[in-house]
Amino acid sequence: MKTASDTIVEALNGLAPRIALVLGSGLGGLVKSVENAVHVPYETLEGFPQSGVSGHAGEVVAGTIGGKPVLLLSGRVHYYEKGDAAAMRPVLEVLQGLGIEKLILTNAAGSLREDLVPGSVMLITDHINFSGTNPLIGEETDKRFVGMTSAYDAGMRAAIEQAAKAEGVAIDEGVYMWFSGPSFETPAEIRMARIMGADAVGMSTVPEVILGRFLGLSCAACSVITNYGAGMTGGELSHTETKDMAPIGGSKLQAILTRAIGEME
Ligand code: HPA
Repeated sequence: MKTASDTIVEALNGLAPRIALVLGSGLGGLVKSVENAVHVPYETLEGFPQSGVSGHAGEVVAGTIGGKPVLLLSGRVHYYEKGDAAAMRPVLEVLQGLGIEKLILTNAAGSLREDLVPGSVMLITDHINFSGTNPLIGEETDKRFVGMTSAYDAGMRAAIEQAAKAEGVAIDEGVYMWFSGPSFETPAEIRMARIMGADAVGMSTVPEVILGRFLGLSCAACSVITNYGAGMTGGELSHTETKDMAPIGGSKLQAILTRAIGEME
């Protein structure tokens, strides 16, 4: 059987991307930025876990953005789907094996700050792992002791900030706190997260950044804010709201990342 790597190499048709982009809930619109796109469904890729979450497409897209070769992963599997924090490890290992050096992650997130309004974009500067788990549990080599002091690459962050400025799109900065999900947080948990120094909460990205750093990839991540955290405005949260709201900030993020990727080293 053809390996996932062989199939992606075929789809790349001679391109040698160094950058990969993972698209979160409702952010599939970014696929439209890819020129000469070749779509490879996860089900044809050996070892690629399928996400069962609505709003996640489940395909690798090979092509170029702003002339730069790139691999997009539209859809990701989450810890809360099977209880496996390392669910994305085989995928990230394939990317690394293909020569990917930079990993850009995107997600939908809840805001913990009144001034970080739904529809805005937040560049993640750091994270708090509040899930109680870690994707490297069970790893047996000393490589498991991954330094996380500069998990979010300064150069990539600067490129994203610059691209936002050039596009005239506002971008905030903040700390992302990983809750396991899939239930949303309670108002008390949101108050706690604010006190603990988080700016946004979500159910993804942190395990991939830990795995990415483990694999030697430079990482950057952006959140599209889809709602205020539970209890901040009174209403009940829902996945429908996440999917409906994500494309609003998603189109801003598309403009930012399209330029940033085109200009990244
Ligand atoms: N909490 C957790 N994950 C989320 C949220 C939220 O409020 N919004 C979008 N993803």
